[in-house]
Amino acid sequence: MGTGQPPRIHLPSPSQKGSISLEEAIAQRRSVRDFTPEPISQSQLSQILWATQGITDTSLRLRAVPSAGATYPLEIFVVCGRNGIEQISEGIYHYNISHHSLTLHHEGDVRLDLARAALGEEMICQAPVDIIICALYERTTLHYGSRGERYVHIEVGHAGQNIYLQATALGLATVAIGALYDEQVREVLRLDKQYKPLYIMPVGKPARR
Ligand SMILES: Cc1cc2nc3c(=O)[nH]c(=O)nc-3n(C[C@H](O)[C@H](O)[C@H](O)COP(=O)(O)O)c2cc1C
Repeated sequence: MGTGQPPRIHLPSPSQKGSISLEEAIAQRRSVRDFTPEPISQSQLSQILWATQGITDTSLRLRAVPSAGATYPLEIFVVCGRNGIEQISEGIYHYNISHHSLTLHHEGDVRLDLARAALGEEMICQAPVDIIICALYERTTLHYGSRGERYVHIEVGHAGQNIYLQATALGLATVAIGALYDEQVREVLRLDKQYKPLYIMPVGKPARR
């Protein structure tokens, strides 16, 4: 230690075998807005983050989600509530894609502040975990000019759908929330101006099906 770097939490290796078929996951996928307070496991979180942006081709560094020109503009943050993830304390974490790990970005349970920054969407503070997908547009617009903005928006849809399907396959649920105040979300997450929050996706066990 003593490097000044925040500690890294290595996530369990993701599995490529599920208990339901892709077709069943598509058929069962629904936006859920009511969650139990039960924590999710580190394996479940690992699986969801892998589906969101995990590396699936180690030689070419390609990911689970397609990206225009493989420019990968998305950055993923995890807001963990109190007892939100087994054996992980409450805080804001950054998903480190290369290492499939979490880095603590800021301590504390910010779910209520995050909900306020998203038009008071109650499910954000009810779910044990919220995944926030942010974009760094420049990574893509440097290559494609203003058309790159369109590509970033298309890409976040791919990532969001993978979260939906992976959550469903794990017996969990989510909802894609696009109704948010960019500036407020950035403040709650303590992010620099170039980060544009696009989706907040609460994840947890559905309270009813
Ligand atoms: C771009 C986008 C933004 C959305 N924003 C919100 C939102 O802010 N709040 C919410 O409760 N649901 C939001 N949704 C979820 C939709 O309401 C939901 O997908 C729709 O009602 C269809 O239901 P289903 O997902 O269960 O099929 C959003 C969905 C998309 C694709």
